[in-house]
Amino acid sequence: MNRNDKTARIAHVFSGTFVHSTLRAAVEILQNCVLGVDDKGKIAFIENHQDVVSLSEIWGFETSDIKQLGQYEFLMPGMVDTHIHASQYSYTGTALDLPLLEWLNTYTFPVEAKYKDLDFANNVYTKVVRRTLKNGTTTACYFATIHTDASLLLGELADSFGQRALVGKVCMDCNSAVPQYKESPSECKEETDRFIKELLKKEYPNVKPVVTPRFAPSCSSSLLSELGEIANNNKLHIQSHISENKEEVELVKTLFPDCKSYTDVYLKHNLLTDKTVMAHGCHLTDEELEIFRETGSAISHCPNSNISICSGMLNVRNVLNHKVKLGLGTDVAGGYSPSMLDAMRRTIDTSKALTIQDPQHKTLSFEEVFRLATLGGSEALSLDDQIGNFVVGKEFDALRVNVCVPDGPIDLFPGECPKVILEKFLNLGDDRNITEVYVAGRQVVPFPDTK
Ligand code: GUN
Ligand code: ZN
Repeated sequence: MNRNDKTARIAHVFSGTFVHSTLRAAVEILQNCVLGVDDKGKIAFIENHQDVVSLSEIWGFETSDIKQLGQYEFLMPGMVDTHIHASQYSYTGTALDLPLLEWLNTYTFPVEAKYKDLDFANNVYTKVVRRTLKNGTTTACYFATIHTDASLLLGELADSFGQRALVGKVCMDCNSAVPQYKESPSECKEETDRFIKELLKKEYPNVKPVVTPRFAPSCSSSLLSELGEIANNNKLHIQSHISENKEEVELVKTLFPDCKSYTDVYLKHNLLTDKTVMAHGCHLTDEELEIFRETGSAISHCPNSNISICSGMLNVRNVLNHKVKLGLGTDVAGGYSPSMLDAMRRTIDTSKALTIQDPQHKTLSFEEVFRLATLGGSEALSLDDQIGNFVVGKEFDALRVNVCVPDGPIDLFPGECPKVILEKFLNLGDDRNITEVYVAGRQVVPFPDTK
């Protein structure tokens, strides 16, 4: 209970039940505890409630300032959406009737081309940041579009609403059926450089750039090499897509005949690092997963999208057995829901479908899926030294959950223990149950304009 940092002051103290994941336990439930957050937004202490008086003396807070959680409330870490296309939010919930490559040319590229217009971008980007925050996404790894200024605007909006975000200006220089929706290789490089420089210059504490080749079929080999170099020289995150559907995997074989596999394409262009997150990976071989493990690259599992546009079913158990980092993604708008609660549910559905096909398959538990949405996501984005669970010194990214809100989606019955209450929230809950959201110690939901 020692106080190491004598300069920090306590900004919030919560008392009650805390639910999070650790490396050892997929779900750890801490009852009758107190958690303190310092004025730098970091977790200062998490201790048993019986020590509250001495904690208040050591840390200099008033016990009357403690926020007491109710019987049906708990705090959990904020959820990490490891893959979401902010630019596709306008048509979320529609256009799910075509497979990937046709879906991109028919629906996606024509919509993304509209982000040249900053008013259009401002409207959609404001809505997606608000919607995801309200649904408990404290960290989002975003794809924007090829437009640098609109991508910078997405970063500005995430910062002003207080969402932690990685923002990617999309890079693509070939194979687009929409002629105005691609760049020349030189434009791509120059605009990526400008995007990174300008976003870093803003010095947003929690919003950073991510180098974003759309996927191998949209990028020339020289563009992929340039992007690998930019990312490695500046130690930046990298995101893209890999092995989402079989037609795409075949296309990549024909486009990159000198590469052994889809994974080899990214490996050869220095795009697989311990700060890389690749979406989907449904059709990766065990050999390819081995390369992911060796390079420390992560997979974003996007189950809603995988089913909605009939791409495939990722065997998450096999990925975890290969010790590859894995987080969950909504993949809006291939996925029709912007909610990470939905991503958890769809992860279980896919796992159960795999068990139906093969009874030997070990189905994922709700506890494991909870870990993937929080700590797993932070690992996938290499942010686990900062976020993901309630550990002293990490940033306080958290959700206040009330499973018993008036007219809410959950009914409780006598004798239900905290684990059952958590399971009900994960399966039945929605944003009505997420009453407060904190990012880096700052309360960001309810939004200041609606309080
Ligand atoms: N592969 C390349 N671009 C995309 C995209 O926008 N969505 C999905 N789901 N897959 C992609
Ligand atoms: Zn995607």
